[in-house]
Amino acid sequence: MTQDTHDVVAHWQRVQTILRGYRQAQVLITAAQLGVFRELSTGPLSAPALAVRIDAEPSGVRRLLNAAVAMGLLAQDGERYANAPLAEACLAQEQGRFYLGSLVSREGAFYRRWSHLPLAVRSGKQPEATLQDEESALWVRDFELALLDLARAAAPAIAEVLPVPADRPARVLDVGGGHGGYSIALARRYPNVEATVFELPAAAEIAREIIAAEGMSERVAVYTADFQQEALGSDYDLVLLFGVLGSESSEGRQALLDKVHDALAPGGSIAIRGFADNEQPDGLDEALFSLHLLLSTAAGDSPTLDDLHQGLITAGFVQPRLIPLPDWIGSTLLVADKPQ
Ligand SMILES: C[S@@+](CC[C@H](N)C(=O)[O-])C[C@H]1O[C@@H](n2cnc3c(N)ncnc32)[C@H](O)[C@@H]1O
Repeated sequence: MTQDTHDVVAHWQRVQTILRGYRQAQVLITAAQLGVFRELSTGPLSAPALAVRIDAEPSGVRRLLNAAVAMGLLAQDGERYANAPLAEACLAQEQGRFYLGSLVSREGAFYRRWSHLPLAVRSGKQPEATLQDEESALWVRDFELALLDLARAAAPAIAEVLPVPADRPARVLDVGGGHGGYSIALARRYPNVEATVFELPAAAEIAREIIAAEGMSERVAVYTADFQQEALGSDYDLVLLFGVLGSESSEGRQALLDKVHDALAPGGSIAIRGFADNEQPDGLDEALFSLHLLLSTAAGDSPTLDDLHQGLITAGFVQPRLIPLPDWIGSTLLVADKPQ
């Protein structure tokens, strides 16, 4: 084989690998949706026995299980299938800190959303069909529960590095705080923190339920409001903007940074999570997330770090700085201060 042919063969293989990536995602999503990991968490089962429990055809179940074994989600011993350690840690136990089951099921809905990508690219706009998803209260609930999966794992480590005053009561505002998971982790980590989740009505209701279930209603309040319409309050020591700016237009982002500046006490800090970090080696995650925002928002795109630096300075903040998080979390925080 000549070098040229060798190169073309590598390209030929690579195209197919990219092309079929969706199949593995669909095996994971389907197994989770059908309850495979949950049923196997009580012990190994044969395909026919599992088929009865999940109300499916044994022949189809066997094919699904074989694919899940090949992907390392399940293990096989003779006729019986069991959760592999990965499934046991992240897909089977709803109470676990690293459970990702709600995220997997939400990804199933996003999978359907991504089938509208040609339309979104042609029109440069969020397709009508994706807008309809969001009219359902269930959509918001499932979305917040999916994000809570990520928060449950990451929030304790994030709470460790946030700038919280230690020597006096500290007021934290979690703008677009969704499920409330970051506020809960902060209040647990710092006994002097009182947090408020600022949310739209549907998400606010879910946040209240989650905060109550965690026994944190005394320390974490929920304020129902729209940050595009209303001021954020005043005298906060720390304001979180986690995963919020990507849904806003560039004007909307600046308006929100200005409002956060107004809401902070002198010397208070803003902490931002969710931006395109120019330092990333290939930028693939950011590029894909930008397409996701095209499919999912009216005018959003992920701001770059440079955009945010500029926006923070324009709003009157000083000392913008990146705070690293543990590698496995896969993001950084951008923090800045309101002058004293
Ligand atoms: C991507 S989620 C992030 C949730 C949470 N901060 C996190 O990082 O997991 C964005 C949140 O912002 C909220 N949000 C969007 N627009 C808002 C507005 N105009 N006023 C208040 N909240 C808003 C949404 O309801 C949603 O919960």
